[in-house]
Amino acid sequence: MSGTWDELIQEIKSRLDIVDVVSEQVILKRRGNTYWGLCPFHKDKHPSFAVTPSMGIYKCFSCGEGGDAIKFIMKTKNMEFREVIEDLAQKFGLEVPKTHKSNGSTRELKDQMLKATEIAAEFYHDLLLRNKTENAELALAYLTKRGIGQDIIKKFHLGIAPKAYTSLYDELRKDFSNDVLEKAGLVLKSEKGGFIDRFRNRVIIPIQNENGQFIAFGARAIEEGQNPKYLNSSDSLIYNKSKTLYGLYTAKDAIKAEDSVIIMEGYFDVISSQAHGIENCVASCGTALTQDHIRLLSRYTKSRRIYLSFDTDSAGQKATAKGASIIKEVFAGLGNIKQFDESYIASNPQSDRYACEIRVIAPPEGKDPDEFVRSVGADAYKMYMQNAPLYIDFRINSILKDKDNYKTPQEKAQYISTIIPVLGEIQNPIIREEYTQTVAGALGIDSSVIKTELESYYRANIPRVERIVKNVTKNDSVVQKAQKILLSVFFVPDSHLTFTQINEMIGETAFNDEILIIVKSTIDKLICSVNNVKELIEHLYTEFVDNPDAQAILPELVEHAQAYKDLSEEEFRNVIKEAIAKINKCKHVEEVEHIKKKYKGIDDNDPEALKIQIQLRDKLRMKKEKSEMN
Ligand code: CTP
Ligand code: MN
Repeated sequence: MSGTWDELIQEIKSRLDIVDVVSEQVILKRRGNTYWGLCPFHKDKHPSFAVTPSMGIYKCFSCGEGGDAIKFIMKTKNMEFREVIEDLAQKFGLEVPKTHKSNGSTRELKDQMLKATEIAAEFYHDLLLRNKTENAELALAYLTKRGIGQDIIKKFHLGIAPKAYTSLYDELRKDFSNDVLEKAGLVLKSEKGGFIDRFRNRVIIPIQNENGQFIAFGARAIEEGQNPKYLNSSDSLIYNKSKTLYGLYTAKDAIKAEDSVIIMEGYFDVISSQAHGIENCVASCGTALTQDHIRLLSRYTKSRRIYLSFDTDSAGQKATAKGASIIKEVFAGLGNIKQFDESYIASNPQSDRYACEIRVIAPPEGKDPDEFVRSVGADAYKMYMQNAPLYIDFRINSILKDKDNYKTPQEKAQYISTIIPVLGEIQNPIIREEYTQTVAGALGIDSSVIKTELESYYRANIPRVERIVKNVTKNDSVVQKAQKILLSVFFVPDSHLTFTQINEMIGETAFNDEILIIVKSTIDKLICSVNNVKELIEHLYTEFVDNPDAQAILPELVEHAQAYKDLSEEEFRNVIKEAIAKINKCKHVEEVEHIKKKYKGIDDNDPEALKIQIQLRDKLRMKKEKSEMN
């Protein structure tokens, strides 16, 4: 079928699912009809990014960024509208009308680069497999020494780059422009003005994206003294190393099946492990782990169980700590991270119970996974994996292992200061208490010392945002909840009542929470000029740019409003009436208490006393009448 450009756009829009599209980059958690996650457009600590599938839109209630699925792709992938449409048309197998096919567009360039990279991968692979170049022998010997035979060479498409300067260039120049080859990172401009191959005299490790397309190369030295040990493709239009994981294409089915993934450090760690039956492993490509890597993985593991299997040296330890903190950042706001092994008490673990689960595989032999699997064995590795400690346990254990190095009081004090943040991270108070005792015992000090330190750590470190969120949800009093209900009713889409009607019902009902008062008065101000809920929300965000406390509360109100969407008009009015009644009732109790207090402190002969007594009587009578009315 071929239609017009506009029809194509319509067709694509109808096939796109906003939740799927956003989920590629943001971890979303469903609450009611809305999905929430951390905003990819600003540094978000608490989920303020909402996706509403019924409306096909996303919106960040904190930075204000919003739009539909196509805008999301444009913004996150930094692409033009036309490019996105062309990409999606290709993905869905739809035809782009001839009149709109752009010549020399980025799409075209990307296609050429992909094609050239694929041919290059085949070229290098073929030279190695058929031993067709002078250094192929050397490379095969090198790989054999590493336990890599023909099968593995084929599975990972390993290859050899010849020593000569232009082997690949000569092969590809007939079919591709210099520009394409250079942009794909296959050739470099030589000093003399010509082009030479980027990779020479190296074992070639082709890098595939998750769909199996060849997009880049890692290349390992094969001779003594050849530097650097690894030469990697730079980022290009088709390769973004901070979003690419080596081995993902061959690992993804296993990651899904086992609902877990092992992150390793090197190409050969992944190659050896996958070759020995540990299939669910990946590595970053000569770069540090990023949030995007973790997001990519989270699409394949539902329970977000991630094993870190880095070197056990100090650089590896640092990478483990960094990796764990990146994982935590990505999943922040989805709930607690798993810190307690209850598998032996809970027979039916729920996969979605935790934001994520981080475990560390660190065999005491101290080898990297590649060496370990080859010298000790894959079964032993799997054993370590099955018994891998949760990250928090791993950290506490490794700190405890050091304890004997700290003997003087000063050293002990320093030691305690390193362990306090770790203990402070433990969410479960019982487990925290257990560990506190263990640490105190190990150091030979009183556990109350550690507890005091912990308390001051908490006071200093609980983030403000978290405090606000706690205040507005868990610890809400009845009145506060009622006040929030009275605000959230303004955000019900397609409401039975207009803003003005709602306001008439609320009337003079008094709010007593400072932030809620600000929100209410701003709503009062805005409803004269806005036409619908969407505009109201947008304007509120603008009004509150300098008031993060007020901004922070909006997502909760908007979300809460979803609960009232399907009510009848009468039910909706009742929600408002009940909230008003609750506020008034509490206000009344407060006033009576206040007058009683005043009355107690007064001399009976004071003329004021009589006045107060009358006030009190009136208030109490009013309460009685009200309760008779209801
Ligand atoms: N790396 C790199 N450039 C280097 C060294 C390392 O890009 N000069 C990256 C590669 O992705 C490599 C990973 O870091 O796979 C791990 O490097 P390292 O621990 O040094 O090596 P191993 O994986 O043990 O490599 P090998 O076993 O081949 O010596
Ligand atoms: Mn190694």
